[in-house]
Amino acid sequence: MITEHDITLNVKLPKKVSREMDVFYNPLMVSNRNISITLLNALGKKKLNLALPLAGSGIRALRFLKEVKNIEKLFVNDFKENFKKKFNNALKSNNLKFTKIKIFNEDASQFLFKQKKLDYIDVDPFGSPNPFLPSAVQAISKGGILAITSTDTAALTGTYPKVTQRKYWGRNIKNYMMHEIGLRILIRKVQLQGIQFDKALIPILSYHKDHYFRVYFISEKGKEKCDALLKQHHYLLYNPKTLEFKTSRFNLEKGFDYIGPLWIGKLKDKKLVDKMCKVSFPEEQKFLETIRDEKDIFGFYDLNVVGSKYKLQTPNMQETLKKLKGTRTHFSLTGVKTGKSLKEVIGLLKS
Ligand SMILES: C[S@@+](CC[C@H](N)C(=O)[O-])C[C@H]1O[C@@H](n2cnc3c(N)ncnc32)[C@H](O)[C@@H]1O
Repeated sequence: MITEHDITLNVKLPKKVSREMDVFYNPLMVSNRNISITLLNALGKKKLNLALPLAGSGIRALRFLKEVKNIEKLFVNDFKENFKKKFNNALKSNNLKFTKIKIFNEDASQFLFKQKKLDYIDVDPFGSPNPFLPSAVQAISKGGILAITSTDTAALTGTYPKVTQRKYWGRNIKNYMMHEIGLRILIRKVQLQGIQFDKALIPILSYHKDHYFRVYFISEKGKEKCDALLKQHHYLLYNPKTLEFKTSRFNLEKGFDYIGPLWIGKLKDKKLVDKMCKVSFPEEQKFLETIRDEKDIFGFYDLNVVGSKYKLQTPNMQETLKKLKGTRTHFSLTGVKTGKSLKEVIGLLKS
């Protein structure tokens, strides 16, 4: 028996978690589940209709039933054989009522295409979310929250640039900002799925953690809102010799490599994250506070990378943050987000 918070599950855990497991449960993803519960409670919406099209062991659904306030209906689906029976057993053994639940055992896209007006959809697949984006975007209601996980980190961080291009419609090449870049390429890809149907998907919380990317979008309606999103799809120009970077509508400038197109807009709704920090699980507190305090601007400087390039002594983090009027970033322990240019940063680090 496995216990996660107040839920117990009868799951066989192999040495290595894999998609071949009879019932899929990944203990490493507890942070992902904790943060989704914190976000739903911080949003404080009433009468929520939630859908978990890729439910796995059902752990997230079971925890939602115990821990999320104001659930009206919870739609749970997985195409694994015997899913209904196993999920029903888990409900019983955790003394949870069946009234709010509808259980499905079919392909996730088919399940989503049949749903209407969902306030929250959690797309939490193995690897890429791509196969489920069209149906999830279609099923999300106006004002609803679309939560997307991607564990497709190699593709998104540019290990294979051709794969990034093919699957995520942008270029990534490895550099120290690869996780922020991967996240922003993913955001644009999801937004394009919505824009074609006049749905503007605006990030309210986006992060990279452990081996996964996660973005929560609020879905708004309207051509103008979609046009406003498109205006924030730019290229990143990066000079690997000097480490200079900037965003641009164009992808050609002497000395610079281009990356993207990608989302250059905000990664979070600060008020929401502030609220989340007040009701968070203790184990997620520090991580969420780092995100809350992080300047919501594009890119960062990695002190080790800049230091070794320009032969600077490794600077003390606290002093450096003051000097650069910067903040830490959750993307890197040695990263600093600041509005200052590379030239200014080097000057200040030397002083
Ligand atoms: C990563 S697991 C989900 C983990 C779960 N969301 C959690 O929080 O623990 C992915 C699940 O999606 C299911 N799955 C994969 N492709 C599917 C499809 N096309 N339709 C329905 N279920 C699918 C798998 O059986 C697996 O249980």
